[in-house]
Amino acid sequence: MHNSVVQFERVSLKYGQGPYILDDVSLNLSSGTFHYLTGASGVGKSSLLKLIYSGFKEYRGTIRVFGSDLRYMKNQVMARYRQQVGVIFQDFLLLDHLTTLDNIALPLRLKGEGWSDSRKKAQQMMKWIGLGGFEEAMPSTLSGGQKQRAVIARSIMNKPKLLLADEPTGNLDDENAAKLLYLFEELNRGGITIVMATHNKDLTTEFPHPIIRLAESQISIHPPFGHERVANNA
Ligand SMILES: Nc1ncnc2c1ncn2[C@@H]1O[C@H](COP(=O)(O)OP(=O)(O)O)[C@@H](O)[C@H]1O
Ligand SMILES: [Mg+2]
Repeated sequence: MHNSVVQFERVSLKYGQGPYILDDVSLNLSSGTFHYLTGASGVGKSSLLKLIYSGFKEYRGTIRVFGSDLRYMKNQVMARYRQQVGVIFQDFLLLDHLTTLDNIALPLRLKGEGWSDSRKKAQQMMKWIGLGGFEEAMPSTLSGGQKQRAVIARSIMNKPKLLLADEPTGNLDDENAAKLLYLFEELNRGGITIVMATHNKDLTTEFPHPIIRLAESQISIHPPFGHERVANNA
């Protein structure tokens, strides 16, 4: 299964005595795929993405990432795994006291690279992502679209193999949302596996990719066009 990036085998998840967020769910995401994750507010989209990233231990069943069982990963291996994952989560914002450049350089600094190299690479990334000239700008002075591009830039500094994006277009107008999708598609063509939670029906139509729909603790996978196929218990 070397081609599998994320594999759920009969995974169940609930918080404490709450209802099941996932109930006996199986899922296999192959390398290089791009999936949307949809479902009503509160259904568990963010929980599912965080489960893939952090593997908080309360789940039942088996989760494999890049072939390794998340449950038995030692801390060091877990740290290396997380470096291969880019995350765009709503509670993972830019740091207000750092310049935009230093925010984007941060993942490399955390990996132990020096400031000078990290900043050079961050600068190239900013140019590529359309933020050239805003290196010294503080995040609070950026527009919504620019902030989101900065967050994306930061999330891909480590050249992740997997990108988890939680409603990344939530605060963007249509034009900036489309730009973000062009960017994601370019990253995906470069080989990054993407899972993007979204509410935006227009986007999923305009930029067709298969859809993981989460409802009533179950998932079903829907191709971008045409017929439906229930993925759970497949
Ligand atoms: N850390 C947590 N502890 C307890 N309940 C949580 C926690 N995180 C989320 N929940 C609950 O789990 C359900 C799913 O939440 P979430 O994953 O944020 O859904 P979505 O992203 O689809 O809106 C909600 O009822 C939410 O209140
Ligand atoms: Mg959410």
